[in-house]
Amino acid sequence: MTDTAHAQPAAATQPALVEMRDMSIAFGGIKAVDEVSVNLFPGEVVGVLGHNGAGKSTLIKMLSGAYRPNGGKILINGKSVEIHNPRDAKKYGIETIYQTLALADNIDAAANLFLGREKKTLFGTLDDAFMEHETRKVMGRLNPNFKKFKDPVKALSGGQRQSVAIARAIYFNAKILIMDEPTAALGPQETKQVADLILQLKKEGIGIFLISHDLHDVFDLSDRVSVMKNGKLVGTVRTTDVTKDDVLGMIILGKEPDAPDASMMN
Ligand SMILES: Nc1ncnc2c1ncn2[C@@H]1O[C@H](COP(=O)(O)OP(=O)(O)OP(=O)(O)O)[C@@H](O)[C@H]1O
Ligand SMILES: [Mg+2]
Repeated sequence: MTDTAHAQPAAATQPALVEMRDMSIAFGGIKAVDEVSVNLFPGEVVGVLGHNGAGKSTLIKMLSGAYRPNGGKILINGKSVEIHNPRDAKKYGIETIYQTLALADNIDAAANLFLGREKKTLFGTLDDAFMEHETRKVMGRLNPNFKKFKDPVKALSGGQRQSVAIARAIYFNAKILIMDEPTAALGPQETKQVADLILQLKKEGIGIFLISHDLHDVFDLSDRVSVMKNGKLVGTVRTTDVTKDDVLGMIILGKEPDAPDASMMN
């Protein structure tokens, strides 16, 4: 294996926010993920790329607690952890945003943000004022143009819905955000909105796994990309070290680009 298979961010002095080591899972004897190792540092975006069925979602579902691995190890901030279910994942600050934009359509942004974790007043009634205030605060940080606080979320555009979903994740202290095809259901304008959100989250030190089968969706946003094929890791490269064509080659051919001049690497 060449060096690029373990490409690390330029300044990897602190322990990784997430390290997934030799992760494996099989379904009915088929190895959906086969000894895959990836990691993620604070403020970093790592794209996870590969064709349909490569194993991207399955890999990341072992981090979000949706699937139990058959093998491998997960470390959070350098400490080995057991993630048996989504609740465990949340405990470690791991939140997942799905392309399906899972929101409750008939209620507004604040009600969605606090869904299942509603804030009550001393009298046991819903503290709508508090929840709206908090929602305005977090949305102001993420998407200052958002104005539709009084509308049910079904009246929102896909990009606006995605910002509500992200607000919900980060309000409850996500440190690690998993975004599985976050722009698959969005148009170009809205995709740009999500890109802006991702840059904002990076600034706040949140680490993001950005999963996509489309290289163009993630290349420019990612610090590194990990490419999978047939359940295996093809390699991980820094996006500043490679071209989009190099990564496309990894996706299609399942092998790493020819190593650049070694003297240029460090
Ligand atoms: N619950 C499951 N039961 C059986 N097989 C599964 C299950 N989940 C995933 N697989 C299989 O594991 C492999 C990897 O699937 P996965 O959904 O992780 O791919 P992916 O890279 O996310 O693809 P896509 O780009 O289509 O989302 C596929 O062969 C898929 O059929
Ligand atoms: Mg998938």
